[in-house]
Amino acid sequence: MNGLAASLLAALLASGPAQADAVEEDEAMIDLAWDSGCFNCHDLDKTLRGPAWRDVAERYRDDDEALGRLVATVRDGGSGNWGEERMTPNRRVAEEDIERLVSWLLTLDARDETAD
Ligand code: HEC
Repeated sequence: MNGLAASLLAALLASGPAQADAVEEDEAMIDLAWDSGCFNCHDLDKTLRGPAWRDVAERYRDDDEALGRLVATVRDGGSGNWGEERMTPNRRVAEEDIERLVSWLLTLDARDETAD
């Protein structure tokens, strides 16, 4: 087997478990978002009271400073970035959980244009 075929095979073998890990991570984060009350106002794919998290990811993906700013916004509440609705403060959610949620949601792919 030449080197290219070997590395292709290695990549194929690696993709299985890596994808399973990503799915488990998504499930854990979705549970955390439910437990933290985020999904009372948010959905991944649809705009509810708050913006679809895939839209949030798209807007801030290339912004290195977004994480710290968004964690503070989620903790203290915010308005005027997406529309008239206000996000009330989420001070009962542990700061490290907010940080985990925001870093994860920023990795989401943009939503399918046909949704919503
Ligand atoms: C009471 C409803 C509500 C809850 C609960 C809520 N959000 Fe929001 N969220 C909103 C609204 C409304 C906006 C848009 C605010 C704006 O236009 O600035 C928003 C905006 C955001 C943004 C983008 C902020 C920006 O500056 O662009 C992020 C990130 C976010 N929410 C994450 C979360 C997370 C994580 C949780 C759970 C810990 C959460 N939200 C809980 C209503 C909510």
